[in-house]
Amino acid sequence: MRIRISPQTMKPYALLLPLILLPFAAHARDPVAGKTNAARVRNVCHGANGLSSLPNAPHLAGQPAIYFTEQMKAYKNGNRKNEAMAVIAKSLTDAEIDNLAVLSGSIKVTVEMSK
Ligand code: HEM
Repeated sequence: MRIRISPQTMKPYALLLPLILLPFAAHARDPVAGKTNAARVRNVCHGANGLSSLPNAPHLAGQPAIYFTEQMKAYKNGNRKNEAMAVIAKSLTDAEIDNLAVLSGSIKVTVEMSK
């Protein structure tokens, strides 16, 4: 699996690069490990609890699995443009995307309306 990331794209993520690429390199052929490691990659920007830790990355907690999968497929086929997400989506199998969709969708979200 060859991942090509342009320097301009990764500049903001340079510190994250080892965190992002390592799991892919180590476990590319093991779906179970891939699922787990894909979640670990997701957590770098979208947070382990599905609440994003980056100002420009959306929260994934509680997202309907159908919407999540549609967005990942759109990044994969280029219908939705984001270089970092395109690289990540293209490196995931449909099964891994489905598992991540269920994983994020299963996070319970409670809201408090502002007074
Ligand atoms: C397996 C790993 C990942 C998964 C499954 C994932 C999933 C997603 C999904 C479903 C969206 C669309 C959300 C929406 O429309 O509300 C999204 C957007 C985004 N993600 Fe990720 N993500 C992953 C890793 C990352 C990483 C590592 C980064 C940072 C380097 C990142 C940064 C972003 C950004 C900036 C957006 C918004 C892009 C846009 O405007 O279209 N994601 N991600």
